[in-house]
Parts: sequence; structure tokens; C-alpha cells
Amino acid sequence: MTAYQTLQIQQDGPVRHVRLNRPEVRNAFNGTVVEELQHAFAAVDTDDATRVVVLSGNGKSFSAGADLAWMTEQADLPEDQNRQGAERMARMFLSIARCKKPVVGRIHGHALGGGSGLTAAVDIAVCTEDCLFGLTEVKLGIVPAVISPFVMQKIGAGRARTLFLTGERFDGREAQRIGLVHRAVPEAQLQENVDKAVTELLTAGPAAVASAKQLIAAVAPLSLEDAIPVTAQWIAALRSTPEAKEGFAAFLAKRPAGWIR
Ligand code: COA
Repeated sequence: MTAYQTLQIQQDGPVRHVRLNRPEVRNAFNGTVVEELQHAFAAVDTDDATRVVVLSGNGKSFSAGADLAWMTEQADLPEDQNRQGAERMARMFLSIARCKKPVVGRIHGHALGGGSGLTAAVDIAVCTEDCLFGLTEVKLGIVPAVISPFVMQKIGAGRARTLFLTGERFDGREAQRIGLVHRAVPEAQLQENVDKAVTELLTAGPAAVASAKQLIAAVAPLSLEDAIPVTAQWIAALRSTPEAKEGFAAFLAKRPAGWIR
């Protein structure tokens, strides 16, 4: 497995753990982190043995967002290089959101700025109740631009109007209430809740999980009318796959499906 400078990768059977590993700066991300995350998620896409990814952060915080020393350097670059760096960051978020395997976020401590963006990019985020979130960019004189589509897909434009404009911090309970995370739990129960999400994913058909992720992306922009041909074709194709045949047969025979270990 590739050696990374800023990530720790661990394979645990079908589960790949991707851990941000710059605890001394609260896992703030610079150009190396951006490049390595993109690489790590591209590697997951092509690895048949991996069925679920867990994204977490080492140390006190999940992530304090973009590394402000790196942001300062970026700002001093010629305009096209400055923009290209931002585009690479946007593509890193996209590689997580579009990862072919489901991604569970284990969020603790702080998830500020781009840390809230990473939280939004994963499929299922589980956080501690007292974890601090915030689209804090305006406090620094910038805006949460690159992460805005990912965050707004989770919380909607209405809530973004308060949170993007004030940059206020909010806790895990509030993050759950507004839909940024799936579940906020006491710290002592964080790991068991992450494990529960992973177990749920591992008992679902792997191709069906990948298809469900694509279905959401395909249907979200459609009207109810325009969705009909798309969704009808989708289920018609899916229910005749070997995986669906195995799922139906296992249910009818009252046995676990073949993909359950
Ligand atoms: N970029 C660069 N360095 C950062 C950073 C960031 N986003 N966030 C934290 N660090 C560094 C601090 O400068 C400090 O470095 P030092 O030890 O050399 O002084 C180190 O990480 C620890 O941070 P500190 O603030 O001392 O830790 P804390 O536990 O008291 O607070 C945070 C943690 C995350 C609440 C606080 O660091 C913070 O507010 N960071 C900025 C978050 C932010 O606004 N992100 C949006 C970026 S667009």
C-alpha cells in the first residue's frame, strides 16, 4: 500500500480506514493532504476487496479545515496557479463524495471550515455531540466556496444563509438537527456507532450500495415526472442482476445472502 506523508491507511478486512494524520495542526489540510486524499480515494475505487471506507482524524480534532499557512502561500501565486490549486481541492472533495464505495465519517473534536466540508462530502457522518462545526471562513475574510455545493446538498440553501454569513460555530447535536451529520452521540459511544454504520453497509449488497449512491446523484436534480423513466429503467436493470437474484433467493430460503460474512 502507498506510503503517505499526511494520511494513515489501514485495511481491516473489507474496511479501509483513512486517517488524517497532521494532529499537530489539528489535521488542517495543505496541498499534500489534498493530493494524498484524492489518491487514497481513487485507490479505493479500484480495489475490489474494499467495501466501506471510514474517514477520521488522528489527535484532538477531525480537521481544522484548510491550512492557513498553505492558503497564504496559494494567495501569493499567479492567478492561474492559485485557481488550479483551488480546483484540485474541489476535486479532492468530489473524489470522496463520488467514491464508488460508501464512506463513513468518524467526526470528533473540531470540524471547522473544510473540516465541515469533509463531513458533508461523506455518505454517513457520525460525530460526538460536543464536536464543534462551523463554516467559519467569513471570520477569516473568505467564503466557504469550494465546499459550498457539498455542504448545501446536506443542509440546504436556507440554513447556509445563516451559517455561511455568520461563520458561527455549532455543536454536533445542532449538526444532526440540520442534517450535516447522520448521528451525534456521546463521545464514549462514537466508535460503536461508527461500527454500527459499517456493519449495516456490509450486510447490504455491494453492487446495490454503489448503485444507490449513483441513484441519489442521478435523481436529485430531476422533477417527479422526469424521474419516472430513469427510476423505472434503474430498478428494471438492477432486479435482474446476479446480486439481486442472490438477495431474493436468500430471503426466500431464509438464509443470509452470499455477501454477508
Ligand atoms: N491552519 C493552520 N494551522 C492551524 C489550523 C489551520 N486551519 N488550525 C489549527 N492550526 C494550528 C495552530 O496554529 C496551532 O499551531 P501552533 O501549535 O504552532 O501554535 C496548532 O494547530 C494547534 O491549534 P490550537 O489553536 O493551539 O489548538 P486548540 O485545540 O486550542 O484549537 C481549533 C483548535 C481547531 C479550534 C483552532 O486551532 C482553530 O480555530 N483553528 C482554525 C479553524 C478554522 O477557522 N478553519 C477554517 C480554515 S478556512
